This record gives sequence, structure tokens and C-alpha cells, in this order.
Amino acid sequence: MLKRTIYCGKVGIDDVGKEVIVSGWVHSYRDHGNLVFIDLRDREGLVQLVFDPEINGEIHKLARQVRCEWVVAAGGLVRNRSEGMENPKIPTGRIEIACTAFEILNTADTPPFEIDNADKVAEELRLANRFLDLRRPAMQNRLMVRHRVAKIVRDYFYNEGFIEIETPMLGKSTPEGARDFLVPSRLCEGSFYALPQSPQLFKQILMVAGMDRYFQIVRCFRDEDPRADRQAEFTQIDVEMSFVDVGDVIGIHEKMVAEVWKGILGIDVKLPMRRMTYADAMRDYGIDRPDLRFDMKLRDISDIAAKCDFKVFTSTVKNGGIVKGLCAPGGSNAYSRNDIEKTLTAFVSDLGAKGLAWFKVAAAEDGSGIDLQSSIAKFFSPALRKAIIERFNAQNGDLLLFVADKQAAANKALAPLRIKLGRELKLVSDSQYEFVWVVDFPLMEWNENEKRFDSLHHPFTAPVPEDLHKLDTDPGNIRSQAYDIVLNGNEIGGGSIRIHQPAVQEKIFSLLNISKQQAEDRFGFFLRALRYGAPPHGGIAFGLDRLTMLLTGTDNIRDVIAFPKTQRGQCLMTEAPGSVDQKQLEELNLRTQKHSHEPEKKE
Ligand code: AMO
Ligand code: AMP
Repeated sequence: MLKRTIYCGKVGIDDVGKEVIVSGWVHSYRDHGNLVFIDLRDREGLVQLVFDPEINGEIHKLARQVRCEWVVAAGGLVRNRSEGMENPKIPTGRIEIACTAFEILNTADTPPFEIDNADKVAEELRLANRFLDLRRPAMQNRLMVRHRVAKIVRDYFYNEGFIEIETPMLGKSTPEGARDFLVPSRLCEGSFYALPQSPQLFKQILMVAGMDRYFQIVRCFRDEDPRADRQAEFTQIDVEMSFVDVGDVIGIHEKMVAEVWKGILGIDVKLPMRRMTYADAMRDYGIDRPDLRFDMKLRDISDIAAKCDFKVFTSTVKNGGIVKGLCAPGGSNAYSRNDIEKTLTAFVSDLGAKGLAWFKVAAAEDGSGIDLQSSIAKFFSPALRKAIIERFNAQNGDLLLFVADKQAAANKALAPLRIKLGRELKLVSDSQYEFVWVVDFPLMEWNENEKRFDSLHHPFTAPVPEDLHKLDTDPGNIRSQAYDIVLNGNEIGGGSIRIHQPAVQEKIFSLLNISKQQAEDRFGFFLRALRYGAPPHGGIAFGLDRLTMLLTGTDNIRDVIAFPKTQRGQCLMTEAPGSVDQKQLEELNLRTQKHSHEPEKKE
């Protein structure tokens, strides 16, 4: 076999005059009868092979046989392409290899899609033939970026004195609050392992064990419905540190992010990153993961709305709701009345809003500056209209949009509306990266259906010390020492300082309606560990898949995972999940519903 001396994509102008051997896949071929051209592809790129019967008649004949995706090796002299034949679009476009040796290493069936056109075929077809799909340079590049991120992260943590420690995949149910994947135990009949939703409790126990600084790039499993930025099986960069406060954890990790951005994109991230309280994020952006690439802050106008004659507004405010909205710069030209009342209104209705009130900002009819125009403007006195304009510092040509509802419902509609308008009005740039740490989350929120508190992060998150006294009196208003790192509206990581005193931990469990017995059953081992000298500690986990998505500019999480699952949690290539033999089920003492309906067999 011809032995490769260089990658196809690495043959360059400096190699002109040298003999090289390349191997790879036939990307395309052109048979001009006289000359045969093959574009050969490997991981690093394409190179043009030329077969000239004048140079070697035998391999010219062989080269005429090849088809796309056949595997070949070729050797020859690197030379400049003749004038007019250069291809400035590819790095090897100025040279070609005049082949003197050639070997067909393997043939290939006709692929179900052309590698070059794979982004135009249905994703199902790509996933079912992932071995071909992953040959695409775009896919290879994303996996390469993912690999380089992991390397930068590992190097960073090694240098900072973190120890990489593996934690079990077969474990007990963990506290992240999603549904567990269960694995039946053969040896302990009737018992199940749960795959980890995260290594949360193990990493805390490693702190109790004195490891001081831990990290792991680790697979996590959550049996949730996959979404564009969510997979049931995903990877975390998981970290825990002892004797630290919020500032320490943030400091170490924003430096890590900066190294990744520098290493992958060559971009200097400005440190320290911004911080914003949860309360401010909710007030100004309606969401705890604000996209700060553009302004367009939400504003509450309930105080003004309460004084108008528009029933929808006044009754909402009277009933404890709010009127909140935003000012889209230049929006009154970008959106016709029809756009607003059909498209934008449908958009917020889908998010649960009851309607969308609007005003265009235009020159006042009496020539005195600007005024609000809308079918509902008549319900607002000139003074109220002026107050609204001032609240947003609105300019001629802007568009004001409002939702009247309960606070949470208004935010739920307005936050995505803001993002949609930001995109459509071209206020966001894909090459802009706006990081922010969101801090001071509430520790718990009231769950009206279940009549109990739920942890916002997880039940091991420490309260802010100044708020500890509210544990008995006002638990809903306790702030936590949790933090999320948000990039362009995406939560890329989250963590907290943990509770390290058993008494506080038990108190939190009781507020979350986890009885002593339940706590003992689920987390007994952990509570016991806390009683043996747990150091103050805290940590964080980043979503490696999400980081890679943002670094490679894709909005599909499957694009950064070599073998991802579909919306239904299936791997279309291996056809997992699949059925198993009856014997396997018997060994596990399991019966599927189907089998249990079958009549009992008589012995
Ligand atoms: P959390 O649940 O916030 O925290 O997860 C941390 C980060 O992991 C990513 N992530 C996901 N990525 C893809 N698919 C999913 N289904 C998915 N779920 C989460 C997100 C998220 O920010 N144990 C805590 C961390 C800690 O407290 O240290 C935890 O798991 O980017
Ligand atoms: P209506 O009185 O239902 O004809 O609505 C008049 C205008 O108010 C329409 O543009 C509706 O979209 C808008 N509207 C109705 N309900 C709300 C609401 N809860 N918040 C904001 N606008 C609303």
C-alpha cells in the first residue's frame, strides 16, 4: 500500500517540486478523456490529482474507474496548476499532484446523498448515514472545535491545580429534578440504578474527602424531551472547589471561558465579565438569560396605564397585573399594522399572551414634536402619551409594543418578542459575544400546584447569609448564592456555593417538603458525609455541547455531537433504543407490558 506522506489539505505551494503521497476519499472526478482529474478529500481538505496518459498510461486507466467516495492513495509530483485552472476558493487551489502512482484501496456503494450537498438533504437521512455525514468539512470542523475546547479546558484546569476524577455512571437518582434514565440491576433483583443527571453529590463528597479542586468532562443523562439546545445525553464541564466564595468561582471560570474564546476564535474576552442580579434581568429583559447584544429593555408602564381609559390595561392593573412593553427602534417602518396585528400578535399569543397593544411613534399632528399613533391612542390623554414616550425615550419611527398580564405571563411573552425583534431589526451580530453572570437568584419559588417550594437551582444551593433569617418567616424572598453564566441569551453554565452545614441542609429539605425519611432514603449518604467536617465549597457546570454550538455558530445541538439522538431520543444510525431478547429480560427479572399481557404459559 502506498504510505501517506502528507494530508491532502496540507499540500501547499511550498511543496511544489516535491514528491508526495496522499490518501483519502474521491470527492469528485472529471474525466476529460485525455486527462482525468480527481479531487481527493481527507480530514484536512481537498487536493487535485491529475492523471495524464502521457505520464503513466496504466494508472490513468485505473483512475478512470473510480467513483465518488472510493478510497484511494496516490503519489506524484506537486506542481503549479496551469494558468486559468487555479481555484482561489480552496487552500490547495494553486497546486495539483501529477500522479505517477495510484492505488484503489476500496470501492464504495453509491452514497444516498452527495457529501457536498448534505446540508440540503433531510436531517434524518444524514443521521441514519452519519458515517457519510461526518465526512463533511463543516461537521469535521465542529468536532475538531469540540476537541480543541476540551483540550484548552483540560490544560487550563491542570494548570490551576484541579484534579480530574471520574464519578459513577451507575448510581442513585440525583437531584437536578429531571426524569432519570433507569438501568435494572441483575444482581439486586427489583432494584435500579439511575444514570447521573450530573455528578453533583459525588463532587461535593469529593470536597468533603479533601480533594480541594475537582473537574471532569462528563456525560450527563436527563430523560427530557430533546430540544434545539438540549439532548437527553449531553456533556458537562463539571467543577467543584473548596474554601471559596461566589467571586472565586466566577473568577476562575470566566478566565477559563476567556482562554477558550482566545484559543478557538482568537477573540479577547473582556474580564471581569458583567454581573447582573436576577431581579434586574427579569425587570429589564423578562428572562434570567438576557441577550445583551442589543438594548431594547422592557419597561413597566403600569403606573401610566392605570390612569388611561383603555379597559384592558386598567383592569389588568386593578387585578394585580402589569402592563409592560418595549420600544423597537425604527419599528414603525419595519412593521406594518397588518404585521403587528397578525404576525407579532400571533407570536405572543402562542406564548400565552392575550393580546399585543401597539403604538407607532410619529410626528404629532399639531406639529409639536412626536406623538403616539394607534387605534387605542384615543384612550390615552396627551400627558399619558407623553409619559409613555419619555419612559422609553422613544424616537420618531419607533414602535412600542405592550402586553398586559400577570407579571410572569407578560415576561414570558415579551422576552422572546424582544429577541425576535432584535433579530429582525438586525440589532444582533453573530460575531458579537456578550457574556454576563446572573447572580442573586431566589433560592426557592412557590409551586402553586404542589403547594410547596421548589429549588430554583437544586436543593444543595446555599442561601445568601444575610437572608438566612428569612428561612422561617419569608422563605420565598431568600436569595441564593447561585450564578449562571449567560452568553447572547444562552445559559452556558450554572452553579452555586453549596450548603455545608447539615442543619441548614435539613431545614431546606423541610421547606421543599422533602420529609426526613425521604431525605434519608434519597440523600442519606450525603447528609452523613456533611456531618464529618464538610468544608465550605461551591462549583459550577458548563454545557460543553452548548459552548461548542456557540463557538461554531450552529443552533442545532446535534451538529456538535458525533452521534446524537433525534427528538424522539432515537439514534437513527444504530436504531437505538431497540428491543431485547426475552432471555435478557428474564435475567433482569423484567417483563414489558406487552409480555405481561400474554397469557401465562402452562408448564
Ligand atoms: P445545570 O442543570 O444548570 O446544573 O446544568 C449545567 C449546564 O449544563 C448544560 N445543560 C444541558 N446541555 C444540553 N442538554 C441538556 N439537556 C442540558 N441540561 C443542562 C447547560 C447548563 O448550564 N449540577 C449542576 C451544576 C452545579 O451546581 O455545579 C447542574 O447540573 O449549559
Ligand atoms: P380588543 O379590545 O380585544 O379588541 O383589543 C384591542 C387591542 O388590545 C388589540 O390590539 C389587542 O391585541 C390588544 N390587547 C388585548 N388584550 C391585551 C393584553 N392583555 N395585553 C396587551 N394588549 C392586549
